Amino acid sequence: MHVLRGQTLTFRDDPAIVGEEASNRHESEGAVAVTAAGLIAWSGPASELPSEYKDWPVTDYGQCLIVPGFIDAHLHFPQYRMIAAYGRDLLDWLNRYTFIEEQRYAEAEFAARAAPLFIDELLRNGITSCLAFSTIHPVALDALFSEAERRGMALISGKTMMDVNAPDALTDTPQSAYEESSALISKWHGRSRLHYAISPRFAVTSTEAQLEAVAALARENPDLVIQTHLSENRNEIEFVADRFPWSKDYTDVYDRYGLLREKAMFAHGIHLSGRELARLGESGSAIVHCPTSNNFLGSGHFRYAHTTRGEHPVKAGIGCDIGGGTSFSMLQTMRDAYTVSQHAGQRITAFDAFYLATLGNARLLGLDAQVGTLEPGMIADLAVLDPMTTPIMAERHALSQSLHDMLFALLIMGDDRAIRQTWVAGKESKPQDG
Ligand code: GUN
Ligand code: ZN
Repeated sequence: MHVLRGQTLTFRDDPAIVGEEASNRHESEGAVAVTAAGLIAWSGPASELPSEYKDWPVTDYGQCLIVPGFIDAHLHFPQYRMIAAYGRDLLDWLNRYTFIEEQRYAEAEFAARAAPLFIDELLRNGITSCLAFSTIHPVALDALFSEAERRGMALISGKTMMDVNAPDALTDTPQSAYEESSALISKWHGRSRLHYAISPRFAVTSTEAQLEAVAALARENPDLVIQTHLSENRNEIEFVADRFPWSKDYTDVYDRYGLLREKAMFAHGIHLSGRELARLGESGSAIVHCPTSNNFLGSGHFRYAHTTRGEHPVKAGIGCDIGGGTSFSMLQTMRDAYTVSQHAGQRITAFDAFYLATLGNARLLGLDAQVGTLEPGMIADLAVLDPMTTPIMAERHALSQSLHDMLFALLIMGDDRAIRQTWVAGKESKPQDG
């Protein structure tokens, strides 16, 4: 048990709904008391620290900002080292690099070497939970979940399902995808802090027979997260329209198989029609904005305000989408979300961005009873951010006149160097930690 001191920031609700003032609680001299069991016992102004915590050991982070650990709502474990692969667009990049790299994860030893490196990189970036794609190989998911369990992390993933339009070595079948997924759900879902996500890659790489199998899994497991990709790239959308001529649009393919619901997480969702937004919204589905990836692959400019607060509002989260994304840093991801929103003429604020990467993503993934805020009773997954990481950031910080000013400079200028420390369940994380 100990007390962390520093600035503290936690969200109560979406700033776009309740307003900036009411959305968060910030203490310029704050404290978080963490129990031996790794739970937050109390947080608030350091001057009001209750007497029962006053003799607990203190770690003083000075001007650094203590926030709930970042939650990444979309990225790919088997793409962690193929970041920055020069590709023309989504389908070219998938075929040329991604589908080659993912084949390596058939080998259990390869996946077991990769998992600690991937998780180290998350923690180095202050990411304490994520929704991740793996590959089609059960051994790859076993490696990822085993390592997350060893670190005590809340991690959500699943075996990728794909049975067409990919190399043979990277395809399963409707039946094997169903059986392997079912077995992995029994093995992993609800064990430690792990959750299983039903994971069809996207409509391009599943036959109708496989989508029937996905539908069966979704029906049999109504509380599980579902993850897939939707409406990222114009050629992808055309391809889906050709493959499913009966569909009204891309979203309708997933809808037909019962995949639109609460905790269904659709990555990208850039080019959606009003009809699609309406169906996603009324079904409780969410879109995960992946701005560095969209910029890297030239996929288009996601319209945050239009999507979340337009005529047909849909919930949205944020993800780094490694390896289409260019950085594991949620700060860099927020930075690109901001620049994309500028291009789209619908500027997001630093409050929007920090909300999305903490409580916002926690809510979408159904993790908000355990993580995403600094409220008492939450598991102490924390990130400590240094707004003065570099000499120029320190100079810039000295000019900041408000909380927003500080957060905005931090997300524009910050990256992994700005993560002073990451805490998982009340323990300081260290590389390849046990
Ligand atoms: N759509 C289907 N698979 C992928 C992937 O691996 N990355 C991205 N960015 N989009 C996808
Ligand atoms: Zn993706």
